[in-house]
Amino acid sequence: MATERTLSIIKPDATRRNLTGKINAKFEEAGLRIIAQKRIHLTKAQAGKFYEVHKERPFYDELCEFMASAPVVVQVLEGEGAIVKNREVMGATNPADAAPGTIRAEFAQSVGENSVHGSDAPETAAAEIAFYFSGLELVG
Ligand code: CMP
Repeated sequence: MATERTLSIIKPDATRRNLTGKINAKFEEAGLRIIAQKRIHLTKAQAGKFYEVHKERPFYDELCEFMASAPVVVQVLEGEGAIVKNREVMGATNPADAAPGTIRAEFAQSVGENSVHGSDAPETAAAEIAFYFSGLELVG
């Protein structure tokens, strides 16, 4: 399997509860390398741009408010099959459906406040990484 990169976000519900280290440990235990990482505080407009694909969904405004409510940690994870592997480590979007041991099963509070985001495909991973990081910040 090819080495891939994927975009990860540790969301406000998790940064508020000081869970960055525990979540990063899950990634590293699964063999994902954190090759870039920064803590930022999004504006609602920036969150809206990032989640533009969900613009027509009923939860869009709530999602953008939440993502701008506290700092987030944006990251690039690298590893073999990193996109699918990260989605396995995160667990299902709704923590009620997330498999035991996954990040969302252990830490998420609701479908909206679900602790982490991860890219869902190679094309979105490339676009999402470019949204937050310049080439100079990706040292591998
Ligand atoms: P994420 O993987 O970041 O991608 C889109 C986000 O929308 C998702 O995680 C959830 O946090 C959020 N989301 C999805 N469904 C709902 C919902 N029914 N209500 C609120 N937020 C939702």
